Amino acid sequence: MENGRPPQHPQLLEPTRLERLLFRLEAQHICLNWAFEEIRNRPGPVFELGLGHGRTFDHLRRHLPGRDIYVFDREIDCFADCTPDADHLVLGRLSETLPEARQRFARKVVLVNSDVGTYDEAYNVEVAALVSANLLDAPIEELDLPMRAYNSLKRNNITKIGQLLALGDDELLRMRNFGKKSLDEMKERLALRGFIVPESTGGSADESDLPAAAELDEAVAAELDREG
Ligand SMILES: C[S@@+](CC[C@H](N)C(=O)[O-])C[C@H]1O[C@@H](n2cnc3c(N)ncnc32)[C@H](O)[C@@H]1O
Repeated sequence: MENGRPPQHPQLLEPTRLERLLFRLEAQHICLNWAFEEIRNRPGPVFELGLGHGRTFDHLRRHLPGRDIYVFDREIDCFADCTPDADHLVLGRLSETLPEARQRFARKVVLVNSDVGTYDEAYNVEVAALVSANLLDAPIEELDLPMRAYNSLKRNNITKIGQLLALGDDELLRMRNFGKKSLDEMKERLALRGFIVPESTGGSADESDLPAAAELDEAVAAELDREG
């Protein structure tokens, strides 16, 4: 007995498969409705990765009237009334269709709903990497970061926006010369480009506290970076 209650079997604390499906759909519904608000005043096409039965596509088209929604899948297996028109259907494996779409829609897409998950975790990781590599591979130069932050990232071999988004605040703050100020500036630049970034959670090492020698070191490093 713990706190007067009988001990519970660990299995009873795990959600059932029915509940897991319910949570997933609920989360998907909340996230999509949130995203609709985020892009309300931003023109541009939307990508739906994974037509499946067409449920999320149906939700997208209902809430985003007048938008071009391009739907990707390797096959058509949806409800008949959820079949996208031929101009908006991109059939084939994502490894082939995404690189092409990236060229065609470079910098125009305002929302990507990726729903290509399966029961195979390893496969999901592989597809998530493929999607990120194709959609988040813009170079960090596009963020026009302050030199200190930019150099610090470069020194740590972070060259793509996708890599940046995958890092937590703590990991970034551990980098030499990357303090709270850099973190805030980086998030501001990402937000300006339309990326949704979480609020900074903490971080003590503010580089504005660094001595002048460190500033000089930075300026020299910046010059060397430019030359190289
Ligand atoms: C979970 S279902 C999508 C469910 C759908 N969004 C809905 O609401 O009905 C996943 C879909 O992704 C597609 N898919 C998975 N991996 C893919 C890949 N590598 N290339 C293209 N389509 C893929 C599958 O064919 C499947 O139709």
